[in-house]
Amino acid sequence: MSPSKPHVKKCVLAYSGGLDTSVIIRWLIENTGCEVVAFSADLGQGENLEPLRRKAIRTGASKIVIEDLRQEFVRDFVSPSIQANALYEGKYPLATALGRPLIAKWLVQIAKAEGADAVAHGCTGKGNDQVRFEVVTNALGPELKVLAPVREWELKTREEEIEYARKHRIPVQATAAKPYSFDSNLWGRSIECGALEDPAAEPPEDAWQSIVSPQKAPNKPLVVEIGFTRGVPTSLDGKKMKTLDLIERLNKIGERHGVGRIDMVENRLVGIKSRELYEAPAAVMILTAHKELEAMCLDREVAHFKPILEGKMAELIYYGLWYSPLREAISAFMAEAQKKVTGSVRLKLYKGSIMVIGRESRHSLYDPRLATYDVGDRFDHTAAEGFIQIFGLPSKVLARRK
Ligand code: ARG
Repeated sequence: MSPSKPHVKKCVLAYSGGLDTSVIIRWLIENTGCEVVAFSADLGQGENLEPLRRKAIRTGASKIVIEDLRQEFVRDFVSPSIQANALYEGKYPLATALGRPLIAKWLVQIAKAEGADAVAHGCTGKGNDQVRFEVVTNALGPELKVLAPVREWELKTREEEIEYARKHRIPVQATAAKPYSFDSNLWGRSIECGALEDPAAEPPEDAWQSIVSPQKAPNKPLVVEIGFTRGVPTSLDGKKMKTLDLIERLNKIGERHGVGRIDMVENRLVGIKSRELYEAPAAVMILTAHKELEAMCLDREVAHFKPILEGKMAELIYYGLWYSPLREAISAFMAEAQKKVTGSVRLKLYKGSIMVIGRESRHSLYDPRLATYDVGDRFDHTAAEGFIQIFGLPSKVLARRK
């Protein structure tokens, strides 16, 4: 410990039970003498967290708090991001980035309840997640210190961490070879490191964890109908459903049909370009359907303006600025703009592709009498002439000048 290190009595650690956060518990006790409370959240990563109770205590934690935050995650984070069509750099549905502020919010809440003076996380110094945890802690618990052991400890490799664990009798099942790094929740899985670091190389098939290869998906297409209420998905194939259940259901369906694989090079907040894979079947299907419904229900000017704020929203989420005045103001705009986004969209899934095949809404602004080229046309064709004369006037003036 360098002498400049803040004095800590008790800290709450974002704990996954993996090698890093297991070693962190011990390391914090050894290096700061503080008491460690572990916190683990279920964000729909599909993992039983109960075994962590014993594990955390055996590793040295004084207490562990486990919370099922799936409903809160969907209601307060995923739903607003659906309304905003939030995709970072047009591709990444932001699963990890949306999960961090919720975990950080709980870290702060628990720290206050436990009388702790710090929170801790297991992020490295190269990623976005450290920024998200810390900026949210600054916003919600400015009096709390933040400890990031992985950023400062002397354990340079995974092997050294395993050795440290062995020496301190920390129960870990880790093996030296770990080809990729993952972070998962119900909105998607992030995959990085290893063979993926060559952006020219096709991802090895074993990098994908849950979505079947499109080549191996069924030869028969599947049609799903997603219904929305004010921009939030609320039914599947005509059946009312909790948004959480619907997302979990769509993930299963998409995984079977090879839908939702994303391969991208993205700009991290810390200045690095990074090649990442995402598996986000439900997110990709829901956002595709949602945009399509908006095309029917939004007034033209709203439709053209909204993407400007969508891009900003995605950036704010990615940057860890969920709890910020601009994000809140944009969400207010989105909620207003979603008032008429109620209806349903049919998607055809086929070997990794998603085709929109139909949409309907009682708030649809699509008027068949105006659109038709057949009998029943109510559009005033003669009015077009005067409109074009005036609309084209600047072009005419300009041409005469030349
Ligand atoms: N690049 C993504 C993001 O910044 C994913 C980060 C994944 N984190 C991880 N621990 N594997 O949101």
